[in-house]
Amino acid sequence: MSEGGRRVAAPRGTRDVLPPESALRQRVIDVARDAFERYGYSRVVTPTFEETEVFVRGVGTSTDVVRKEMYTFPDQSGRSLSLRPEGTAPVVRAFVQHGMHKLPLPVKLWYVAPMFRYEAPQAGRYREHWQVGAEAIGSDDPLLDAEVIALLAGIYRRLEVPGVRLRLGSMGDPKSRGPYRAKLVEYLEGRLPALGEDARERMRVNPLRLFDTKDPRVAEVMAEAPKLIDHLSPAAQEHRERVNDALGRLGIAFDEDPTLVRGFDYYTMTVFEFTSDHLGAQSAVGGGGRYDGLVEGLGGPPTPGVGFGAGIERIVLALESQGAVVAPAIDCYLAVMEPGLRPELLPLLEALRAAGLRCESDLRGRSLKSMMRHAASLGARHVLIVGAREHEEGVATVRDMESGEQRSLPLGDLVTELSVHAGEAGA
Ligand code: HAM
Repeated sequence: MSEGGRRVAAPRGTRDVLPPESALRQRVIDVARDAFERYGYSRVVTPTFEETEVFVRGVGTSTDVVRKEMYTFPDQSGRSLSLRPEGTAPVVRAFVQHGMHKLPLPVKLWYVAPMFRYEAPQAGRYREHWQVGAEAIGSDDPLLDAEVIALLAGIYRRLEVPGVRLRLGSMGDPKSRGPYRAKLVEYLEGRLPALGEDARERMRVNPLRLFDTKDPRVAEVMAEAPKLIDHLSPAAQEHRERVNDALGRLGIAFDEDPTLVRGFDYYTMTVFEFTSDHLGAQSAVGGGGRYDGLVEGLGGPPTPGVGFGAGIERIVLALESQGAVVAPAIDCYLAVMEPGLRPELLPLLEALRAAGLRCESDLRGRSLKSMMRHAASLGARHVLIVGAREHEEGVATVRDMESGEQRSLPLGDLVTELSVHAGEAGA
């Protein structure tokens, strides 16, 4: 053991989620789960770490995530493993491994899971973050792209995430991207002096990423650069128009953004990002797109797919910026005035909980006054007061914390009476 005394903190870029934030976070997950179920998604759980190759082949060697941000380590037998930096490649790996292409398509899977990226921490950017995500694998229908976008838009709407906007782009298909890329490089090579060393390096690795630059000089160059959206193949162009049309019919507003480049190599055709203007620089609350070559890239039969991931911490930050909190609430608080009676009333407390009521009681020897304060701070609807007199008569004084009304009820009726009230509150 150490000498003790030094406080240990959570690792840089990670955070503890404490109440009441944890309740808001749970609400995000509950709303997402409910939406996933209504759209026909089933939950998938994949390991927290994968063979590094899953991400090298799946996410791609030109991406910052694979080049610089992975938590990669050899295990004791020398196998290279990586903590999951994103959720799509692992889900597709599982789809291929378990021959899920034989199931009725598209297979729709959702997840809630932590992701690990060695990024520079700042507000809204962590080294461990959580995503809720969905992957629909096995259809290239543009209506599926629109459905996936509508699903995510519905989650933000239901949560009332403030200032949400949708940006839409297209990565084209690999056939149209090759010649376009050559055009872009040619354009950039004529402007090398305006690009720094960093931008020149990016140009060699993946010139499209330069659209994502924070450097104003590079941004100026990119503003005039040829755009992929103007060089789409007829098939990619038609796909784009049909997605736009479907979103229009659904009344989902979007901005087409020819500079939207998402940070993974697997994207084809539709890409999208939702932002909230209530966040700082890290404003993306979710993003995704189509990945028609990924299943094949990971060893499966050619199978298209589309999906998204949404950052839970950023959604919570956006909600908190509006003062959102999930107030604590319990159905009843048992206030036993005689400490000696507490063991005898323990079965009553258990019976209330077994009936599905959320019940608390004092475990610190509080006075009645202090128990009432405690009950209020827990958001109790009712307080059940039992003193020597009540105990003798086999009753409890039930106080409605909202109206302040009090009445006497037989102990045997409490479960039924309070369940009716809890049912009303939940309705
Ligand atoms: P992504 O855009 O890298 O996409 O991440 C999705 C969301 O996770 C982001 O929009 C953001 O809300 C959140 N996020 C990402 N990095 C961080 C971070 N360091 N700290 C806090 N939040 C973060 C993907 O991961 C793709 N797998 C999405 C996808 C699914 N595409 C197709 N299917």
